[in-house]
Amino acid sequence: MHRIKKTIALLGFLLLQIQFSHAQFSSGIIPKPQFEKPGKGYFQVNSSLQIQYLQKQKQVAASAQFLKQFFHEATGFHVPIKPVQKASTGSVFLVLDAFPDSLGLEVYSLLVNDKGVLIRAKTPVGLIHGIQSLRQLMPIQIENRSVKHPLQFTIPATQILDFPSFRWRGLQLDCCRHFMSKEFVLRYIDLLSFYKLNKFHWHLTEDQGWRIEIKAFPLLTQIGSKRVEQDGSEYGGYYTQEQIREVVAYAKARHIEIIPEIEMPGHAQAALAAYPNLSCTGQPLQVANTWGVFKDIYCPGKEETFHFIEAVLEEVVALFPGEYVHIGGDEAPKFRWENCQHCQTRMRDEKLKDAHELQSYFIKRVGTFLTNRGKRMIGWDEILEGGLAPQATVQSWRGLQGAIDAAKSGHDAIVSPTSHLYFDYGLKSIDLEKVYGFEPIPAELNSFEAGFILGGECNMWTEKAPQELVDSKVFPRMLAMSEVLWTYKKRPDFNAFKSRLKLHYPRMDAMQIHYGYEKQPIRFESEILADKNAIRMKILAEPQELKVNYTLNGSAPTPMSAVYMEPLLIQTSTQLNARAFLGDNPNAELFSRTIHLHDGLKVNYELNQSPSQFYAGNGVKSLQDGQRGSIDFHDGLWLGWQDGNPELKIDLGKPVALKRVVAGALQSIPSWIFFPEKLELEASNDGVNFSQIAYLYCADYNHPEQTRTKDLELRILEPKPYRYYRLKAIRLDKCPNWHDAAGSKTWLFLDELMIFE
Ligand code: ACM
Ligand code: ZN
Repeated sequence: MHRIKKTIALLGFLLLQIQFSHAQFSSGIIPKPQFEKPGKGYFQVNSSLQIQYLQKQKQVAASAQFLKQFFHEATGFHVPIKPVQKASTGSVFLVLDAFPDSLGLEVYSLLVNDKGVLIRAKTPVGLIHGIQSLRQLMPIQIENRSVKHPLQFTIPATQILDFPSFRWRGLQLDCCRHFMSKEFVLRYIDLLSFYKLNKFHWHLTEDQGWRIEIKAFPLLTQIGSKRVEQDGSEYGGYYTQEQIREVVAYAKARHIEIIPEIEMPGHAQAALAAYPNLSCTGQPLQVANTWGVFKDIYCPGKEETFHFIEAVLEEVVALFPGEYVHIGGDEAPKFRWENCQHCQTRMRDEKLKDAHELQSYFIKRVGTFLTNRGKRMIGWDEILEGGLAPQATVQSWRGLQGAIDAAKSGHDAIVSPTSHLYFDYGLKSIDLEKVYGFEPIPAELNSFEAGFILGGECNMWTEKAPQELVDSKVFPRMLAMSEVLWTYKKRPDFNAFKSRLKLHYPRMDAMQIHYGYEKQPIRFESEILADKNAIRMKILAEPQELKVNYTLNGSAPTPMSAVYMEPLLIQTSTQLNARAFLGDNPNAELFSRTIHLHDGLKVNYELNQSPSQFYAGNGVKSLQDGQRGSIDFHDGLWLGWQDGNPELKIDLGKPVALKRVVAGALQSIPSWIFFPEKLELEASNDGVNFSQIAYLYCADYNHPEQTRTKDLELRILEPKPYRYYRLKAIRLDKCPNWHDAAGSKTWLFLDELMIFE
């Protein structure tokens, strides 16, 4: 200690006694350090730079090597590493030192002045954090790896004392729905480290693909890693154990823990395609090529299922040295178990009263196995159902209730609610400001219970995101989350964060991060011009200075397409496509609106039954605004009902002979949304006594496309003038027996009721 103090005195630094009073100052580092203040002048980096650490602190060598590697990649220059007795000027000096326990194991301080750089930390983890902060103080261009920079630049004098508020700061990446290359995974580990996240939750098995080599069960990858897409093409990929060891070592050098997720008992169709004997029915299955929740899951009635899972986990445990293994546990339909002799026998033998307890039996058994291997188990919040396994950590995704229940029963919890941290969701529901405002500690917890909230995770599911789109969903939202979890209560307001973020974009450009927008950049607004038989479409850009390119012929706009200047007058049915290009990211999201003109835009429509509050759109106006819903049933243009049979009454004001009535409908079978069974059209002249003039049976449930829209058209064979028309939509009452949610109430979705004279 004495020598360290002397060393530091030599560099002219003040230690620990630093008064951090410049609350306004910002180094620009994200996540914002807990305490920071500017120094005077700068440190001049040049080719006489050395990286130094104390000879006796051999544990520092790896951090020194990490910094050396950074300089080498950026400049081509080999900065020498010198173990020394005491530091000398002109160096970056890395030292392990004592800090108060209350600051945790990741604490570091960073001091830059005209004599050099000092990074102090309690553990090597803190040294890496200090190095990452130092990197963020260097010129932006240093991050551009496509050129070698001279080792000749300045670093502004700065004093920082910093530590994280939460010890679990994670990103979950789904490498199953879409496969992410090993190089891409390594890059993400770098990016996590750069922004001081410390957990990489690697989602490795799914219905749509098994992505980890297991030597004991080679068919898992030979069969389970490949799927035949709907167009007949093959899609696949997996990581060999050798590749996984490389990723693990890479993460270890950055002090990032990898948490492998091996899903069970649900989301296991790829495994069951390889080993169908592990399912309840034993019937052959394909690796799934649609998204959703599937009813064929592992059979806990069969002992061989547990032999399989334990053999798989044996290899997983050997590959991943971290403390935790994630076993999934979410979205496991109980339909098969309820109809399986093996499962029923198991329930009798184990005195389990329902399928939830059977799931709990399953998870507890696996939990015991992991505990015996010295590991801790994490599961999604469904593992609370039927009784939580001892010592299990709960990852709360369906809101925060799972975290509340876990913490109140003395279990650790990680928060990643769909409301704030599902980065696969669009900016319409989760924009940057919402993420930045996230509160990881549920208000329902007292301060003791709050201690069980380890932290949070950003969830990046990839049904709609092949590798090249992942950056645009993760960035910049991950930076907001990083600051929530690191700086937490001391983070400044959103506008201050935004100004600092603005300075980060050029750095992200240099790092070739294809970040997305902060909020939904494009919104459409429509206005019906009844007298002109037209619709006026406005495109609203946010921020307003974004340049919007658009087309009206169905093609994807490029930067060369028409630039939006003023509202567009739409006089024939068309598709409006718009994109706002951001920086040099070629993947600007396409915003599309299909517009259909018809004779219902200017008359009176009335619904007998309100849609569900979750899919209420703009009420009945949504059925006569000319704006067509997309295949995303959350797009706000759809009305949805899960009860009754909605009826729509049309008052034309005077008798009109309609020739056609067309209902725009959506079917998304994995989401329990079905076309109506039947449409009935009635007409009347007094508005009271109606008679049927047309009908249509619409069931079309075997179509290979699970999610699609369709215009259900009723032709009136002998048009006669009527003032009133009434359309009745008969819902399919329950999900059919073949469906994963057999017996549950279905949804009916309509976006427009088009009428034509
Ligand atoms: C999940 O999103 N099913 C955890
Ligand atoms: Zn079974």
